Amino acid sequence: MGVIELNHPLVSHKLTILRDKNTGTKEFREIIGELSTLLCYEALKDAKTDEIQIETPICTMKAHKLNEDNYAFVPILRAGTGMLDGLIRIMPNAKIGHIGMYRNEETLKPVKYYYKTPKDLANREVIVLDPMLATGGSGIDALTMLKEDGATKLKFLCIIAAPEGIKKMQEIHPDVPIYCAAIDEHLNENGYIVPGLGDAGDRIFGTK
Ligand code: PRP
Ligand code: URA
Repeated sequence: MGVIELNHPLVSHKLTILRDKNTGTKEFREIIGELSTLLCYEALKDAKTDEIQIETPICTMKAHKLNEDNYAFVPILRAGTGMLDGLIRIMPNAKIGHIGMYRNEETLKPVKYYYKTPKDLANREVIVLDPMLATGGSGIDALTMLKEDGATKLKFLCIIAAPEGIKKMQEIHPDVPIYCAAIDEHLNENGYIVPGLGDAGDRIFGTK
């Protein structure tokens, strides 16, 4: 288990636009969606498929089918919801949960305000979404709640991860692989990722 960083010129290009402070809400949101699709593609590399028989216009063949119903996507509110479209575009039948959490700007500790997930988490692969893994507090608490609710197969998808958050998450949840588009340098004194992209929620929803 480890950290998987998407390493691709197209991803670097998209990240450049995302990080630019002059990029507007519409484009920012679109690129969060596109990068999320690519993260999902990478995270499903080891997905199990069932063999079925189909008929093409030419002949019958054995083909592979993914049971989308076995998956649950769980965005952390609110910024994580910005990633959701990018995943359900390619996995429209996955179940969806929500965890409401915000980071207290002074203590940097996560505060939970909502929790609703699909039933039978134990039988699903649970993919947690949050664009920013900074101190790791929010992501770690979300994974802990999901485990307490029965989840055993978890993955964490983010756009940018800080080394500090990765280290802490791997200490507490070593079984959960982290997929990210980029690993940045460090956190600043306010707990923001440097160079980062600023406040992901505010940029997705245009609230600042
Ligand atoms: C941001 C981000 C993560 C959290 C990351 O959310 O979306 O949830 O901060 O920081 P951490 O790793 O130090 O916990 P924020 O609290 O700004 O809430 P929002 O999504 O409602 O904007
Ligand atoms: N949350 C954000 O939205 N951005 C950061 O850089 C850190 C936490």
